[in-house]
Amino acid sequence: MIRAETSVVAPPRAASETLLEVSGLVVDLPGRSGAVRVVDGVSFDIPAATTVGLIGESGSGKTMTANALIGLLPDDATLDGSLRWRGEELLQAKPARRRELRGHEIAMIFQDPLAALNPTQTIGRQVGEILRRSGSSRSAVRQRVVKLLDRAGIPEPAAKLGSFPHEFSGGMRQRAMIAMALAGSPSLLLADEPTTALDVTVQARILRLLRSIQEDSGLAMLLVSHDLRVMAHVAHQVVVMYAGRVAERGPTSSVLHTPAHPYTRALVDSVPAVRTKTALAHPLPGTPATPANRPGGCAFHPRCPLAQDRCRTEQPVLRAVAPDRWTACHFAEKVLDDRTA
Ligand SMILES: Nc1ncnc2c1ncn2[C@@H]1O[C@H](COP(=O)(O)OP(=O)(O)O)[C@@H](O)[C@H]1O
Ligand SMILES: [Mg+2]
Repeated sequence: MIRAETSVVAPPRAASETLLEVSGLVVDLPGRSGAVRVVDGVSFDIPAATTVGLIGESGSGKTMTANALIGLLPDDATLDGSLRWRGEELLQAKPARRRELRGHEIAMIFQDPLAALNPTQTIGRQVGEILRRSGSSRSAVRQRVVKLLDRAGIPEPAAKLGSFPHEFSGGMRQRAMIAMALAGSPSLLLADEPTTALDVTVQARILRLLRSIQEDSGLAMLLVSHDLRVMAHVAHQVVVMYAGRVAERGPTSSVLHTPAHPYTRALVDSVPAVRTKTALAHPLPGTPATPANRPGGCAFHPRCPLAQDRCRTEQPVLRAVAPDRWTACHFAEKVLDDRTA
């Protein structure tokens, strides 16, 4: 169980405007035997100044969901549903409008900064690119880049402007990418497993950095991670995905303390207790469903200890099961009762 840690995240500064409204998002990719539905009707909101965590096992569709939000899917992907940015429908927006939003209002950082950075350009040039395009003077750009690198925790930033990505450590490269993402003063930062490739100690520092940036600047963040402990530290709300669908969503501490979906409960139980070192972790039973081979009814039913006949045939819809809590399980009330009893 994940305890204590959950209280670390301060509530968002103001319960406010919804920045991005994702509803019924569908992503199909062509497969060998027909289209594969890798994201299947995903709905959630990202309120301003709030960190929303997207969790789930590998292959559950987290990256496809995040990439769909910023228009980074492969050309042969087909999308359906609705993505509304401050009320504006993005799926129908012109490519030019989407490019305008990308990098400015919505920025993204990735798991592998080396793949995202240009190896032949200096860090200073890359971080300053979006600023130069906006017509700022050379010295204004330079000043701002130094500030951004400093904000991202890069020591002696002025001396690093001429460095190339390969001269940086993994952690410093991730900081450079964060500086680059912040250059356009985004309202929403998408971070897809931003610390997964880093050493554990560096991971913690980068997460602290992201959290402090979120808190100071009041931007919203969608943090993708398979690591529940990361979520407990950073996210105000979580969206739990299973096989391309939302299994459950709600405020982080509520979802992690009293899961209403057997999948979330299994995920939480699979993480060794952070505080009580004696508690045993229970690995998740069975193997994850894949989008190409999604079981009928509830996709989790083959792995679910509570599965009944109904779960094999009837796909549960995401429904409100408590204030602010949404769960796609026929027996959510039972799961909640089990937990709080
Ligand atoms: N080009 C592709 N064609 C078909 N399926 C893909 C392709 N890329 C990824 N997938 C499948 O899409 C699903 C979702 O992938 P992804 O969003 O990367 O998951 P996650 O980020 O949660 O690990 C996975 O099951 C993966 O196998
Ligand atoms: Mg991924």
